[in-house]
Amino acid sequence: MSALFQPYSLKDVTLRNRIAIPPMCQYMAEDGLVNDWHQVHYSSLARGGAGLVVVEATAVAPEGRITPCCAGLWNDAQAEAFAPLARAIRAAGAVPGIQIAHAGRKASANRPWEGDDHIPEQDPRAWTTLSPSALAFGEHLPRVPRAMTLEDIQRVQQDFVSAARRAHEAGFEWIELHFAHGYLGQSFFSEHANQRTDAYGGSLENRSRFLLETLAAVREVWPEHLPLTARFGVLEYDGRDEQTLTESIELARRFRAGGLDLLSVSIGFSTPAAQIPWGPAFMGPIAERVRREAAIPVTSAWGFGAPGLAEQAVASGQMELVSVGRAHLANPHWSYKAALELGVERAAWTLPAPYAHWLARYHQIEGAL
Ligand SMILES: Cc1cc2nc3c(=O)[nH]c(=O)nc-3n(C[C@H](O)[C@H](O)[C@H](O)COP(=O)(O)O)c2cc1C
Repeated sequence: MSALFQPYSLKDVTLRNRIAIPPMCQYMAEDGLVNDWHQVHYSSLARGGAGLVVVEATAVAPEGRITPCCAGLWNDAQAEAFAPLARAIRAAGAVPGIQIAHAGRKASANRPWEGDDHIPEQDPRAWTTLSPSALAFGEHLPRVPRAMTLEDIQRVQQDFVSAARRAHEAGFEWIELHFAHGYLGQSFFSEHANQRTDAYGGSLENRSRFLLETLAAVREVWPEHLPLTARFGVLEYDGRDEQTLTESIELARRFRAGGLDLLSVSIGFSTPAAQIPWGPAFMGPIAERVRREAAIPVTSAWGFGAPGLAEQAVASGQMELVSVGRAHLANPHWSYKAALELGVERAAWTLPAPYAHWLARYHQIEGAL
């Protein structure tokens, strides 16, 4: 019996299996509005059989976009554009989730296929970036951000609150706060980006403050019966990993106490000097440690695209959900393929009924899938 294909319930939401599609930016929006491309993309991912589809990093404010083409939720028109997309994911049998984000000092960049670097400051498409301190990320992102004032901090936290409210109104049933990958939330936690001397910098408690306050503010407006989750980089691969991981686990405990329902365990990406030991499923043991020591449900990504590895991650208790990203871009029916490969009885029934009915028969008759 496959562990990966067991349902999973969190709050009042039940996923049909343990497969999550993590947020993946499309960089195809205009003025933060999602469009036909997003509809096609997310509908096809959802119909493929995953339990959860988390929509890409969606900016809570215009200056929080990674690129000018990122999705946004800072106005009601954007929320309206998201509504059919959330409905389509739901209609395909997956739970519609969304990641809300502020890119901090990594904002105002070109799309990956157009350079992935900062847009030059004199270019009219560029904007002023915000971060805890006036420190650039470096390398391809050399722009020095403006250090946030206390008013900036409060405004951005309110932007997260408004975006969460709009996400719920648009029909999303699962929300993920993007506190990872060197964007604004991660930057408050990381000393690579935060050298403040006020209440938001220095000690672990101070570096956690922005994150915990933002969580608390969103908790107020996000319905109690729906999962409130976050993505966070628990280590930087900068040579100080044990210390960072210990601090991150303490933060995860505080997240849990503050009402977080699940943590997506990821990488900090706060310094270009990181030496990341890329390899299949390499984050599995780290996710397991956070899950165990912080007593919080977790998911993790990065290289779980081989069905056997995804199965193992759940079966061995490393994580509640496995996040499989790029393998779903290559094949939106990844879940079905995984079910066949893992020998799940009646694998076709991982798909929506109209497909399942015919594919199950085809499989029986032809044995060809
Ligand atoms: C095209 C693309 C866009 C991504 N955008 C986001 C994003 O919006 N938010 C995020 O937290 N991670 C983002 N990621 C990281 C993925 O969520 C995931 O962690 C990564 O692809 C590793 O998982 P995989 O090995 O299964 O692909 C993105 C990755 C890709 C390939």
